[in-house]
Amino acid sequence: MKVVVVIPTYNERENIRVLLTELDKAFGTAKKYSISYLVVDDTSPDGTAQVVETFRKTHKDVFIISGKKEGLGKALLRGMTQAFEHMDADVVLQIDADLSHDPTVAPRLLSAIDNGATFAVGSRYIPGGAIPGNWGLIRKIYSIIGNSIVRFGLWHIDVRDWTGGYRAYTKKFYLATHREMEKYSGYVFQIAFLHKSIHHGAIVKEIPFHFTDRLYGHSKIAPAEYIFNIYKYIAVSRFQEITSWSFFKFGVVGTIGFIINTVVLELMVRAGLHPAAGSATGAELAIISNFLLNNAWTFGDRKVIGKKMIPKFLQFNITSLGALIIQTVSVWVGTVLFGKSAYFVSYIIGVGVGLVWNYIMYSRVIWKK
Ligand code: GDD
Ligand code: MN
Repeated sequence: MKVVVVIPTYNERENIRVLLTELDKAFGTAKKYSISYLVVDDTSPDGTAQVVETFRKTHKDVFIISGKKEGLGKALLRGMTQAFEHMDADVVLQIDADLSHDPTVAPRLLSAIDNGATFAVGSRYIPGGAIPGNWGLIRKIYSIIGNSIVRFGLWHIDVRDWTGGYRAYTKKFYLATHREMEKYSGYVFQIAFLHKSIHHGAIVKEIPFHFTDRLYGHSKIAPAEYIFNIYKYIAVSRFQEITSWSFFKFGVVGTIGFIINTVVLELMVRAGLHPAAGSATGAELAIISNFLLNNAWTFGDRKVIGKKMIPKFLQFNITSLGALIIQTVSVWVGTVLFGKSAYFVSYIIGVGVGLVWNYIMYSRVIWKK
């Protein structure tokens, strides 16, 4: 396994030499992999590049590329391009230069890859990981909430640390995403790259570490711009998912189900049966139609066939019951709060929430990739 450690730097003169030395020490015994270092410097005015050039004289495995300052995301992408396309890397390990990322954890990120993960994430939010104890309460809350917004906003709750920059990943995700990654020049790059990699089948493994404040220099993050870009990323990517082709098919299938439900109800009532019986029969027939059509068409790429269809169909009934409960509770809460006449509005809200519930359940549980 050929590993290139990518280190973005902007004014890290005081830190870079210590980091390179510490990393070398950390990998010292792990000669299992072939490791080289690539500093991606944006022509730092403090002379970071000169420090690296001096270091290179005694360390032949250290390389540096220089460019103009276009943001962290651009620098990381440039580093990946160099590593994967010109240095023959199988894996890139990216780490901040400011010693916030404990270098002794780096071999663990690589072991995770060695043991089958394809995207190892240094994590502050799993047991054993931490954000700095000396941060004020507000900053801590900010960091935790920020990460939760991404985690829940993108609805990948199994991954805890979305914003960090301590990671190792295989070439596959660079190849699959590098064209679209051009768009994310700032810190939001970290979120977008992980998210897109997951969509390309990344096997994520989180490795805990203690994030510490930098000793020298200062952070280059611009909080307002960063937060804006995070919200924008979540909104745009969720909107694209929701308006995707499969969501359209889901809508068509649901409409057919609704028509079946209504027609059966009408016919049975006209035949003199009780409306409750008509409604229940119609609903179940609609569920059957929804199941078969979604299976064959909406999620046709993940179709279940043969005997496996039976447990899936039962599961499908249970999640449909979930939507029914959401709808009923919504109508009930609406009428309790705003009186009987408000039933229609709360019914519509319930149907809407129920639809979202169904789509998430279908795409993430029943027809999980
Ligand atoms: N080449 C280059 N160009 N490097 C940059 C640039 C840039 O425009 N901006 C920042 N860097 C480098 C820094 O020199 C440092 O090595 C690393 O990227 C992280 O930058 P910091 O300025 O130290 O960022 P931070 O500590 O505030 O941000 C941390 O948290 C973010 C959000 O959780 C880092 O862990 C980030 O990676 C993380 O995204
Ligand atoms: Mn930092």
